[in-house]
Amino acid sequence: MTKSFAIVTMLLATTLAPARPSKVVIAHRGASAYAPENTLAAFRLAAEQKADYVEIDITFTRDGHLVVLHDDSLERTTNVEEVFPDRGQPAKAGSREQRWPVKDFTLEEVRRLNAGSWFDQRFAGERIPMFEEAVGAVTPHTGLLIELKAPDKEREAGRAMEPLVAEVLRARGLAGKPNDSRAPIIVQSFDEGGVRELAKLLPDVPRVLLFSPPAAPRWTSASGLKEVASFATGIGPNKDILDTDPQLVGRAHDLGLFVFAWTFRADSASERDAARAAMQRGLTTLGLDGVITDNPDLGRSK
Ligand code: G3P
Ligand code: CA
Repeated sequence: MTKSFAIVTMLLATTLAPARPSKVVIAHRGASAYAPENTLAAFRLAAEQKADYVEIDITFTRDGHLVVLHDDSLERTTNVEEVFPDRGQPAKAGSREQRWPVKDFTLEEVRRLNAGSWFDQRFAGERIPMFEEAVGAVTPHTGLLIELKAPDKEREAGRAMEPLVAEVLRARGLAGKPNDSRAPIIVQSFDEGGVRELAKLLPDVPRVLLFSPPAAPRWTSASGLKEVASFATGIGPNKDILDTDPQLVGRAHDLGLFVFAWTFRADSASERDAARAAMQRGLTTLGLDGVITDNPDLGRSK
């Protein structure tokens, strides 16, 4: 390769590559240690606490609308049992325990639910946000890390999330610009097929493959990581994976992948110092590009 060809190749790679975020604090489901997860109140607080991004989970309602919800059912984070007492389904065949799957409820029904009181009565007015509302909450200082929940199952059920996500982002002018050093939107999923689909539909939006410890051997091997780099621009390992494999960050960086680890949290006041220290160690010693945390206020060094 001639020197000038090498320089042109390098410049092209720099110009065309989606943004590589650096040292960001990401509020997991909003500032979810202090406000009900995945609500506008939690997103506002995350912005006040100077989070660089708010992480949200999105899923489908029965009538095909995207809403912001982590679980595939409504009972943990809403008052669905009171509002729709007769709509519960057995958690398992023959089980007396009941669940209220979100896929059984229309958007209008979902919007009637109180998504705040389970956390604290002062959040009684919170509703499950529509995806578009969450996208509308993006500010110049706080972007959105959007996790598509189980897009593989949705595809099997004959409806795809990825084109809808792409449509909403394009309509808002948030589908990305090459080499945007501070991308307002990043997308992610545990589902490889979903991330591959996003690569096709939103090539200029940074995209992360998430994985938990059971999937780590597959994705962190030399060949696995190389494969990830062919369709994603970042990885999102559970932070426990880095306890046994701290060199993963360097190996990912060598392939041009950024690394966000999850989930850092303080479950009580006595854990705050340790959570702050763990995030600092992650961002400095381990070289992480971002930490995903329930406590965005602890993500910055004092
Ligand atoms: O952002 C990573 C993290 O959110 C993945 O786990 O279960 O909280 O969606 P979960
Ligand atoms: Ca998530």
